[in-house]
Amino acid sequence: MAEKLIELKNLTKRFDDNLVVDRISLDIYKNQFITLLGPSGCGKTTILRMIAGFEEITDGQIYFEGKDLTKIPANEREINTVFQNYALFPHLNVYENIAFGLRLKKLDQSEISDRVARSLSMVKLIGYGKRSIEALSGGQQQRVALARAIVNRPKVLLLDEPLSALDLKLRQDMQYEIKDMQHQLGITFIFVTHDQEEALTMSDRIVVLNEGKILQTGSPEDVYNEPVNRFVASFIGESNIIPGIYCGNRVVEFFKARFDCVDDHFETGEKVDVVIRPEDFEVVVVQEGKITGKVADIVFKGVHYELCVMANGQELIVHTLKSPNIGDIIGLKVDKFEIHLMKVS
Ligand SMILES: Nc1ncnc2c1ncn2[C@@H]1O[C@H](COP(=O)(O)OP(=O)(O)OP(=O)(O)O)[C@@H](O)[C@H]1O
Ligand SMILES: [Mg+2]
Repeated sequence: MAEKLIELKNLTKRFDDNLVVDRISLDIYKNQFITLLGPSGCGKTTILRMIAGFEEITDGQIYFEGKDLTKIPANEREINTVFQNYALFPHLNVYENIAFGLRLKKLDQSEISDRVARSLSMVKLIGYGKRSIEALSGGQQQRVALARAIVNRPKVLLLDEPLSALDLKLRQDMQYEIKDMQHQLGITFIFVTHDQEEALTMSDRIVVLNEGKILQTGSPEDVYNEPVNRFVASFIGESNIIPGIYCGNRVVEFFKARFDCVDDHFETGEKVDVVIRPEDFEVVVVQEGKITGKVADIVFKGVHYELCVMANGQELIVHTLKSPNIGDIIGLKVDKFEIHLMKVS
């Protein structure tokens, strides 16, 4: 089992009467890539700022290697942050931006140039040391911000939506690079994003937040396949959420039909939300499907078609390799392992 590095215990933050972080408890391990995922305003930045020491905590505790972190001043914490707006010094060149923290620590010249060179190589900017910050693209500035954070050899790197300013292609490239960098450095990354796809591709563990509370913590697969409630299901990827009734014995009723399922932690007769991912439907002829629907729309998505199907008065999103016509009546089949039940929230 990996070693625990940071422990948040009932961490709480209030700005005046406004409760923005509500008793968050979370264990973060060494060498883990953990992502805080949630909509704008849910408290992600505030949590990072409390860990970094830029924001006082209202209540609760933060432990770092078992010690009370709040007693350690921000500049002595073995934690570095990459801010969303990069916060580079425009009047210093690339080299000096990266060397800045090391000069404050009064390291000797050769150590500084050695470490800066290694950081530049890590972010693929060898040869850019003398460039001015203004002469860099957005993606290159982001790399300098990363290099400046890792040059201090922190035990933890906090990354607050580091890629949100980049265009899609560059963002995807940087996702792989950051993940790769984390493997090479072997340190803990706490990454913040409101982009679910980014969270799913990059993380060992995802923490889904809303309104200052943790809704779910788990591996990307867990959170995607077994969302705990409607909010998580609709926040993490496209999904169909259908009202149903649990009939007992791993049977659920929805759309006036009964389906086998694999969840059983519900009361017989309990109302449930049934989640089915668009890719988990199989389009079949009407006789073969328990669900019948009318194709209302078709969009070609490159690898698959996305259908909007009206079934029992509800719109379903269905991904398929087949291409029916608008207006076709189709059957839909779904495997019992792909029928996921959630508590009604
Ligand atoms: N210094 C402050 N004073 C008062 N309220 C604040 C302060 N900083 C943040 N807040 C409020 O706390 C809440 C959480 O803000 P926070 O910046 O942590 O959200 P976030 O999840 O990072 O959002 P985003 O995705 O938009 O960056 C918001 O409602 C915000 O307005
Ligand atoms: Mg933020």
